[in-house]
Amino acid sequence: MIPEKVLTLMNEQIKNELESAYIYHSMAAYFHSINLDGMAHWMRSQVHEETIHGMKFFDHILDRGGKVTLLDLKQLKTTWSSPLEAWEDAYKHEQFITSKINNLMKAAREASDYAAEPLLNWFITEQIEEEVNTSKICEQMRLIGNSKEGLIMLDKELSARLFPAGSPYDPLAYNSAQ
Ligand code: FEO
Repeated sequence: MIPEKVLTLMNEQIKNELESAYIYHSMAAYFHSINLDGMAHWMRSQVHEETIHGMKFFDHILDRGGKVTLLDLKQLKTTWSSPLEAWEDAYKHEQFITSKINNLMKAAREASDYAAEPLLNWFITEQIEEEVNTSKICEQMRLIGNSKEGLIMLDKELSARLFPAGSPYDPLAYNSAQ
């Protein structure tokens, strides 16, 4: 049995993670629209990760006999004034997610919900990686400044991010399946 407050926060976290996927979808569309396909590729791969994050909470609730409640997603930003602004938003968003995971851990501890701790510990470690990945790209974008050459090089580097096998967000996977 999941304590009520923890269950409420976990259902909110499913929404937060799926909203993250939707935000990164929107950023992928933006990067494609300005021909930064490597950055768009990185975002598509991030969509895959965020969907899995949502499903981890989804399965955890079900495994413990709780009720999964899918909440509304809000209208998201659909464009950015520069690639740097998009990456800064991604970093800020990851900081927001970290704060939500920390709140969840606090609530789980207050309710002596020991069964939730392994899952939440996984997310606490994951958020370190999520923040460092996006903040590092922000720093690299700042170093690049107005250099078009630097931007193209970073875009190429980000295009090398691998999709997990069989990811439905990998165009190669779904194009070859047709
Ligand atoms: Fe699921 Fe990027 O946090």
